[in-house]
Amino acid sequence: MNSVAEKSRDYSLIFEPITIGNVEIKNRIAMAPMNMNYTGPNHQVSDQQMAYYAARAKGGTGLIITEAVLASDHPTAHTYKKYNNASLCNELYVPRMSELVEHVHAFGAKIFVQLGLGPGRQGTSEAGAIQPVSASPIPYATYPENLVNGMDPLALVRACGYQGAIPQTEDVEELISFANKIPGTHMNGETPREITVEEIQILVHDLGVSAKLAKRCGFDGVEIHAPHGYLLHTFFLRDPTGGPMNTGAHLKTGSVFWWNASIPAGNTRVRTSMWACA
Ligand SMILES: Cc1cc2nc3c(=O)[nH]c(=O)nc-3n(C[C@H](O)[C@H](O)[C@H](O)COP(=O)(O)O)c2cc1C
Repeated sequence: MNSVAEKSRDYSLIFEPITIGNVEIKNRIAMAPMNMNYTGPNHQVSDQQMAYYAARAKGGTGLIITEAVLASDHPTAHTYKKYNNASLCNELYVPRMSELVEHVHAFGAKIFVQLGLGPGRQGTSEAGAIQPVSASPIPYATYPENLVNGMDPLALVRACGYQGAIPQTEDVEELISFANKIPGTHMNGETPREITVEEIQILVHDLGVSAKLAKRCGFDGVEIHAPHGYLLHTFFLRDPTGGPMNTGAHLKTGSVFWWNASIPAGNTRVRTSMWACA
C-alpha cells in the first residue's frame, strides 16, 4: 500500500483509539458540528437536543463536536435569528450543558463544544436583528472561483425554488450576476458594519469566560468557530484579487483578537476554511 489513494482507502485504524491533547478518544470517528435547530427557549439545551447527541454517542461516535454555541450575548453575536443557537455565555447555561456532557460521556464518547461569536457577514438584520458586523464593511458574494468541481452557478437559485426564466448562456460570470439579483438565493449578503475595537474587546472577553465555563461543564475540549465567513473568519479573509480584505478594523484589532481570549490551555482547536466566498 504505497499510493496516497491506496492509503486513503485503508480503514484499518478507524476503530483504534487516538489522543488529541490529553483526551483519549476510543476511535477515529468524529462528528462534525451541525446546528439542527433543536435548541430550546432562551438558548438552553432542549431534551430533544440532548437525546440527539446521546444517540450519536450511543451509536459509537468517538468524538462529538457540538454545533456552534454562542459564547457571547452581545447583540453583534445575534444577527442570524433564523438559527436558534444554544448558548454558553454565562452561568445560567452551565446546568443543562453539564447534563449534555454527562449524557454523551455515559456512552463512552468525548465531546468538544464549538464556541462562536456570531455569523459576521453571514448575518442579516431580518427577524429583528441588528445590522450584521464584520471585520470590514464588505458583503459576501459568490465568485466563479468559489464554484468548486464545476458546481452549477444556479444551484442555490434552483434550491430556493426559483421558477422564473433563466438566461440561455454557459458564461459562469453572467449566470452568477443573474443569480445575485434574485432575492433570497443566498448568493450575496447584506453589507455589514465594520466591527469596533470596543465590540471586539467585549467579544474576546466573553469568549474567554465561555471557554472557562465549558471546562466547568466537563467538555473535553473547545473548538473555536471561525469558518464559512462567520465573524472570526472575516479576520482571515482576502479579497478576490488576493489582497487583504479588511483594512481599518483588521489593522486596529487583528492582533488582539484571538490570543487575549484567555482560553484554557490544551485541547483548544480552531475551525476555519479556505474559501473566501460566504
Ligand atoms: C444543517 C447543518 C448545520 C451545520 N452547522 C454547523 C455549525 O454549527 N458549525 C460548523 O462549523 N459547521 C456547521 N455545518 C457544516 C458541517 O460541519 C460540515 O462542514 C459541512 O456539512 C460539510 O461537510 P460534508 O461535506 O460532510 O457535508 C453545518 C452543516 C449542516 C448541513
